[in-house]
Amino acid sequence: MTSTDPLSAAACSGRHVVILGTGGTIAGRAAQSTDVVGYKAGQVAVQDLIDGVPGLRQRLAAGWRIETEQVAQVDSKDMSHAIWRRLAERVQHHLDRAEVDGIIVTHGTDTLEETAYLLHRVLAPSRPVVLAAAMRPASAPQPDGPQNLDDALTVLGWPGARGVMAVLGGQVWSGAEVRKVHPYRLDAFSAGDAGPLGFVEAGQLRRLRDWPSTSPLGLKVLAADIWPEVQIVTSHAGADERLVELLVRAGVQGLVVAATGNGSIHQDLMAALLHAQAAGVLVMRALRGGAGCIVPAATDLLPDAGALTPAQARIEVLLRLLARRGG
Ligand code: SIN
Repeated sequence: MTSTDPLSAAACSGRHVVILGTGGTIAGRAAQSTDVVGYKAGQVAVQDLIDGVPGLRQRLAAGWRIETEQVAQVDSKDMSHAIWRRLAERVQHHLDRAEVDGIIVTHGTDTLEETAYLLHRVLAPSRPVVLAAAMRPASAPQPDGPQNLDDALTVLGWPGARGVMAVLGGQVWSGAEVRKVHPYRLDAFSAGDAGPLGFVEAGQLRRLRDWPSTSPLGLKVLAADIWPEVQIVTSHAGADERLVELLVRAGVQGLVVAATGNGSIHQDLMAALLHAQAAGVLVMRALRGGAGCIVPAATDLLPDAGALTPAQARIEVLLRLLARRGG
């Protein structure tokens, strides 16, 4: 089903936006501007990032208000549970302000799918929360971050926009589905079989599907001081049971297995996972291939994560364990 929103950007004037910075390549800087590989992520303050946004002056003239807040400044490979909790709290804090129309989170691309999924499951906001990132550092001769931020503002300002989304390379993704599939290309993201929610084209949103929605768990689920330990193991040729046994002995509470085929698992690994499940570990199968959805069978011995990537499934398991504790 295709639904197009034939509205001009002018219809979205006067928005009040909060941009929360967490670091990433979008805030990256290299010693030489031509270096788009050997740079350091998370260097440029979020306040300075917005200065390069192409449509900024026009938006400010149209009555937009843009606040910034630096929540973290990390390479997202180093994202932590503590930063996630702080970020979720700050997003919720600003969503609780009636005058705020939406939030943008600047983020690294490497774990964007995890943060997006976490925010989606915990908050499911009735206003837009848009993650913006970049594949080239801010110091590059042609950085993609400023345009991605401008596109994020377009999505945020669109009438009716809601839910957690990510905007990169002119494509709009659901926070429930987005995943990074390429280490270098500007269009490095996908949503598996689900495809994008829409496209930003010359300041217009062409929406293909409805806005993301879910039943949120609520922020209190993240309140626990110590989060359960959830690890990912991979099923592969020659896989054996020892890693799972070690993890169970070490006290792991959740395990995601990155599975082959339609969620199949090497027989030796499977035996250990069933033991872990019997011992009370929450075990979940996710596809290791980056697309598709596990089609469940009546004979399945372990639950599946549907179309989630192993990294997203890890968050799903984490949140279920936290919810069991009562938040
Ligand atoms: C990061 O994830 O922080 C570094 C890589 C990137 O943003 O593209």
